[in-house]
Amino acid sequence: MAEMTASTLVLAVDRRLEARILPALTQAGHRAVARVGSANDVVQCLAEHRPDAVLVQSTRRQLTASLIAQCDRLGTRIVAFAASEMERRHAAMLGLHEVLDASVDWAEVDAILDGIDLRAGLAAREPVRQPSRVLAVWGPAGAPGRTTLAIEVAAEIAAAGHRVALVDADTYGGQVAPVLGMLDESPGFAAACRLAANDGLTFSELERVAQRYLSPRGDFSVLTGLASATRWPEISAQRVAAVVKSVREWADYTVIDTGFNLELDEEISSDLFAPRRNAATLAAIDAADHVIAVGLADPVGMARFLRAHPDLVARAEATEVTVVMNQVRAQAVGPSPVTQVQSALRRFGSIEAKALVPYDRSGMDAARLTGRTLGDSAPRSSAHAAIARFVTQAVLPQSAGAPARRFRRRRMAVV
Ligand SMILES: Nc1ncnc2c1ncn2[C@@H]1O[C@H](COP(=O)(O)OP(=O)(O)OP(=O)(O)O)[C@@H](O)[C@H]1O
Ligand SMILES: [Mg+2]
Repeated sequence: MAEMTASTLVLAVDRRLEARILPALTQAGHRAVARVGSANDVVQCLAEHRPDAVLVQSTRRQLTASLIAQCDRLGTRIVAFAASEMERRHAAMLGLHEVLDASVDWAEVDAILDGIDLRAGLAAREPVRQPSRVLAVWGPAGAPGRTTLAIEVAAEIAAAGHRVALVDADTYGGQVAPVLGMLDESPGFAAACRLAANDGLTFSELERVAQRYLSPRGDFSVLTGLASATRWPEISAQRVAAVVKSVREWADYTVIDTGFNLELDEEISSDLFAPRRNAATLAAIDAADHVIAVGLADPVGMARFLRAHPDLVARAEATEVTVVMNQVRAQAVGPSPVTQVQSALRRFGSIEAKALVPYDRSGMDAARLTGRTLGDSAPRSSAHAAIARFVTQAVLPQSAGAPARRFRRRRMAVV
């Protein structure tokens, strides 16, 4: 049996539940630092006591959006209890989907506090297919299409039947949420980072802080980026590494949209203890099994890409790096643009691009207008075809293009 760790707790539950769990939690070695009545009281306790978790009843008085936001800000875990269907619905409305029945055994609460509940539970129900893969999508400055590629690659992997988590780790302005029409004030990646820093990023917390992109082709989870780019100091290398470690267990494929800058911040600032803005990108690359490097296929974009590519390869070390050139068009590079781009990359960088994605204004416009992926909004577009082919050929394992899956639509058998 796993050894339990003692936690510092704040309790905001009804009297009956408190009378039942207080002796049990004390006996289990935990410490209840405060027993309070309303969400406002809990918020005050958070700053004062910095508890590991808040045990809260899912009533309007005790569980509020601002309490959840404050817990996310401080990386404090929330364990919610519902004594009725109404309380369960209240929690769900606030985005808390893992709610315990108020009659639950203390042992279950204890296991949750230890972060072993859902991990063990999920593993028993549906083992994660091994090995899971982490893909970092990187590209130099000049908006070559990192976010577009990250979203489309995630969508195509999900369409092939895998469990996918898309993570927006661009500390220069995450765009995944607006592109997919999601609320970017939701907790997302920054909250996951804070929870991971406190060892609280369980599967249930991941499910809570992530948003779900729903699609008939295959849903995927999204950890949206920073709502304000000025909050980048919250995203340290250690936190990114810890989040990726958890997400890797949660999903079959983790796709990370990174920033453009590979400079070590030590080279920019002499303050060794200053937070590092590029740390998230570097940590994502370090954690990845496969880096997709995106370049913009015009003369300036290619020059930038050729300059930065050696730095990427040096950082990625033994990790597989695959090059995709995006927005390929004759207007930018002359006739036969595919040949032009390939030969320039070969000649000046000995680089072989695995995919050349055409410039596809109408496909992208359709996707942006609807907040959907290309596969959902413009499945016949040329960019979609190129990215789907790339994912099948260079991202998914060759034999596993058609995995055992839940969402996969069955073909009609021809008899
Ligand atoms: N194949 C394409 N054809 C046409 N437009 C494209 C294509 N790929 C991307 N775009 C457009 O280029 C712009 C930049 O793309 P995207 O936001 O994906 O780049 P990025 O590298 O993430 O940029 P940023 O530095 O802002 O994060 C967007 O308006 C997007 O719609
Ligand atoms: Mg971007």
